[in-house]
Amino acid sequence: MKLTRYLIVALGFCLVPVAMAQAPAPAAQTPIIDFGSRFLPTVARQGMVVGPEELAAEVGLDVLRAGGNAVDAAVATGFALAVSYPRAGNLGGGGFMLLHLADEDRQTLIDYRETAPAAATRDLFLNENGAVDQQRAYFSHKSAGVPGTVAGLILAQQRYGTLPLADVMAPAIALARDGFAVSFALNQEIAARAERLAMNPEARRLFLDAQGRVPEIGSRWQQPDLAWTLTQIAEHGQKGFYEGEVARRILAEMQAGEGLISAADLAGYRAVEREPVRGTYQQYEIISTPPPSSGGIHIIQILNILEGYDLQAMGHNSAAYIHHLTEAMKLAYADRSRYLADPDFEPVPVAELTDKAYAERQRALIKPGRATPSEEIAPGKVLVDASHDTTHYTVADRFGNVVSNTYTLNFSFGSHIAVPGTGMLLNNEMADFAANPGQPNPFGLVEGEANRIEGGKRPLSSMSPTMVFRDGKPWLATGSPGGSLIITSVLQTALNAMAFDMNIATASAEPRVHHQWQPDKLVVEQGISPDTLALLRALGHNVDVAGRTLGRTQSIMLDRGYLWGATDTRRPGGHVAGY
Ligand code: DON
Repeated sequence: MKLTRYLIVALGFCLVPVAMAQAPAPAAQTPIIDFGSRFLPTVARQGMVVGPEELAAEVGLDVLRAGGNAVDAAVATGFALAVSYPRAGNLGGGGFMLLHLADEDRQTLIDYRETAPAAATRDLFLNENGAVDQQRAYFSHKSAGVPGTVAGLILAQQRYGTLPLADVMAPAIALARDGFAVSFALNQEIAARAERLAMNPEARRLFLDAQGRVPEIGSRWQQPDLAWTLTQIAEHGQKGFYEGEVARRILAEMQAGEGLISAADLAGYRAVEREPVRGTYQQYEIISTPPPSSGGIHIIQILNILEGYDLQAMGHNSAAYIHHLTEAMKLAYADRSRYLADPDFEPVPVAELTDKAYAERQRALIKPGRATPSEEIAPGKVLVDASHDTTHYTVADRFGNVVSNTYTLNFSFGSHIAVPGTGMLLNNEMADFAANPGQPNPFGLVEGEANRIEGGKRPLSSMSPTMVFRDGKPWLATGSPGGSLIITSVLQTALNAMAFDMNIATASAEPRVHHQWQPDKLVVEQGISPDTLALLRALGHNVDVAGRTLGRTQSIMLDRGYLWGATDTRRPGGHVAGY
């Protein structure tokens, strides 16, 4: 890590004087890189892990240095984050892993999204008045979907890793067993949820001391139960989690708390490989997450709409740019509400929604001089066949492989319910179904019948691990937490790099905006000028300057022979590990 910092300094300070003095060109001259941007990424040459927490990113880097590939490092980092970043790193949640396999020049996606227990029914979360019972939907044993993370990481490791599973899991086991010093970020993350964590006796035992206090910064925090669970997985693979003693403990907790997950649900869980969704933006190819995530489709759809405008001429974050971006976002999120769901249960018109001709028809609906109120926007007509917390990390290795992984418990610390004797939190991913179709979910997203609760179904997600290719090679890999904000955060990071030539640190840091059709509100981060906001209001936008930040990307750009890493500075604790 220190080395990479020195490398930046060396590039910045040593090369420039050489150029100014016009020394005779050496035989193999080092190209001089123009940094002309406000923020500087961290640079490395051989391998890199960018993630939300330092210890886990360094675990991944150690695996790369030891000769593992990006998949080995991604699996190691995923298990390590379950220990060091408990708000979102997990064994009890699920996610999506996008891989670029250099040898085969192929991309694939591992879908390890949770599934609804077989016993889950459409009205699971409705009370006697037909309204959503938020306590039951978000913070009960019934909020938990069948966990997918362990199956997903193991599938990735078995198919595409090069080291034994036990080797890549060893650092996570050591972290849990031996403990580590509590960071400022971890202290703050637990403090923010302490009240609710204290409501569940096992979560209270894991995260707070006997007096209910948050672990102090610098104190050693050990998780022996989690070390035991990880060891069961390292020794017995998928069965070590979904069958046997870990499963028995999960089932005992389900029984105690009237949860729905059964032994058959656990034993039957499968992570699956899916074709990523693909699109283009000018000379770039976009490769992203397919259903049951909505992310990839809508990123491509919005890019298709925006491709018809000269964004550079409008100017980055100008009123004209934000207006057109916002109008495209509204159209996409309106479509999301109607068409997106688990493709194993509902037909999702992927090709139609990502079609350039459809984007052209949608572009025609955008008025350059007026914001269209959301109530005037309905999901578009496409031809259908008959009919707060998540986390992201990105890895690149010296062999050319790239992994972009987003996984989650849904809210920060999920349902805040821990399974006794496992060190593991339950997710509350069932809240991502449309508990009451047509009514907003916890992220304010309105979804329809297609995303109703059904046993065995995967809830619709917004998680969007994404890669951008240039000249047929991976150029940018990124992803973000943030629920409904994920799609627009990933979109703007990629657009800043593609359309505005920003380096990845600047592309990540620039203020973001977000509109999700319903509610009809254009949320903007601090940093957009008041003049611009006044122009947007004059166009009819209902502008809301967010008191919070939007998204938290973790990105790598592969450019000019270097790896350029940027951890989003919007939240503390992120880390770029490179060598
Ligand atoms: O799958 C989804 O879209 C949500 N469960 C993600 C939740 C999330 O990002 C919360 N984080 N801030």
